[in-house]
Parts: sequence; C-alpha cells; structure tokens
Amino acid sequence: MFRRTTEIKGETVAIRFDGQRIVVPAGETVAAAVLANSPGHTRTSVVSGEARAPYCLMGTCFECLMEIDGIANRQACMTIVAEGMTVNRQQGKREMPE
Ligand code: FES
Repeated sequence: MFRRTTEIKGETVAIRFDGQRIVVPAGETVAAAVLANSPGHTRTSVVSGEARAPYCLMGTCFECLMEIDGIANRQACMTIVAEGMTVNRQQGKREMPE
C-alpha cells in the first residue's frame, strides 16, 4: 500500500515489528515505520475483527492503536521510534490486567 519514495538517509534505529527486525529513520513515528514496512494494518477491530490502519496520522482518529514496548492502546502516530523498541499489531481488544 505504501512505500518510501526515497532511500533512508541519516541516522537510523532498529525496532522489532511483529517479531521482524526492521531498520527505520530515527525520529519518524511508529505509524510511519509500520506503513513503510508492511502492506498491512496496525490493529484489528474490536467489533468485527477487520484490519484497521492509521488514518489521520495526527492523534485524532485512534485507528493506529498498537502494542508498543508491552503497553497496549498506544497511538503509533504519536510515538517516535526508539532503538530496540518492540511493536506489535493489536488484535481486537486489549487484555485487562488482573
Ligand atoms: S492515525 Fe489517527 S490517531 Fe493515529
């Protein structure tokens, strides 16, 4: 769906996205990194289970919720990548702590 139009230049960081190590530009958002490195989605719908993807990229729509560094429901479009970060697609509703 999306692809980078230019090569990655400058500083990079390595993150783990659904178990895959990917190298992305330092300073970009998790949503941008995910969109540039997969054709798919960031989460599945709580109601229907359908795939959902970032839409507004400015913190308004909440379509980009992901599990980031073990914390569910984080907005990928409002989170900057960091070296060693772990990012997973969120499947349906998050689990509540007991
Ligand atoms: S893409 Fe809309 S809140 Fe993140």
